[in-house]
Amino acid sequence: MTRTVYVNGSYLPEDRATVSIFDRGFLMADGVYEVTSVLDGKLVDFDGHAIRLQRSLNELEMANPMSRDDLLAVHRELVRLNGIHEGLVYLQITRGAPGDRDFVFPDPETTPPTVVMFTQDKPGLADSPAARTGIKVISIDDIRWGRRDIKTVQLLYPSMGKMMARAAGADDAWMVEDGLVTEGTSNNAYIVKGNRIITRALSNDILHGITRAAVLRFAREAQMHVEERSFSVQEARDADEAFVTSASAFVLPVVEIDDTTLGDGRPGPVSRRLREIYLDESRKAAI
Ligand code: PDD
Repeated sequence: MTRTVYVNGSYLPEDRATVSIFDRGFLMADGVYEVTSVLDGKLVDFDGHAIRLQRSLNELEMANPMSRDDLLAVHRELVRLNGIHEGLVYLQITRGAPGDRDFVFPDPETTPPTVVMFTQDKPGLADSPAARTGIKVISIDDIRWGRRDIKTVQLLYPSMGKMMARAAGADDAWMVEDGLVTEGTSNNAYIVKGNRIITRALSNDILHGITRAAVLRFAREAQMHVEERSFSVQEARDADEAFVTSASAFVLPVVEIDDTTLGDGRPGPVSRRLREIYLDESRKAAI
């Protein structure tokens, strides 16, 4: 079935939706994005994503062409038109198409931003086999730019990281800078040692995950002990458990890091419990 997608104010069949070859998202990776999950046909943490989108736009001095309510209405309409029960809504805003290639930002008065949104249907997203078995990660150098807190569409290195993982027989990669884990290619990284959940503190070095914020809140509410600090790959290999979080994976256990098996090689109790709490609470709060 052909998807209905959204481009600059219009709902169109995906094969009729187009963007200019001069779009700065295409030529310069000059754009930001958000991925919001859908459970039971409802949006998970929509406001968290809308707030982070606004922050990314502010940091890049890009105008936000849509209000929170307009954004919500388009998200909901796409979910409805495409009959999404479980899946994702992808949103991208670029600095528009000035009609030529130039490093200098175009005048926003004459070059409006490009707004694109589409759904990804993912039946079984909440009951993924990977959550039952856990995933394997490798560690790779983090050679990305210094503003990883801005959710830009510059995803070449994270894509390469996933390919490196695949070539090594793993599922994903954790990126390492100055000997310390920053984050996964498309998720935040955590280890569990004893009764402590450890994850890197927020800074420009990592994306401020919306799922991370929710999971840490739920963990604290459940009286779990959270430490926001950096950890090394060695500390991760010595951990009892590890997991990642993102809008598309929720809480996903990690059972192997660089060929070191964690615990008994199966998802640990803390990761499993957090996934359960996260899914329950997200379903309740989804809009
Ligand atoms: N990725 N870190 C990075 C580098 C990410 O790309 C993501 C999300 C996260 C988790 O953020 P959140 O919990 O807000 O999804 C952390 C999305 C899902 C993606 O690129 O598809």
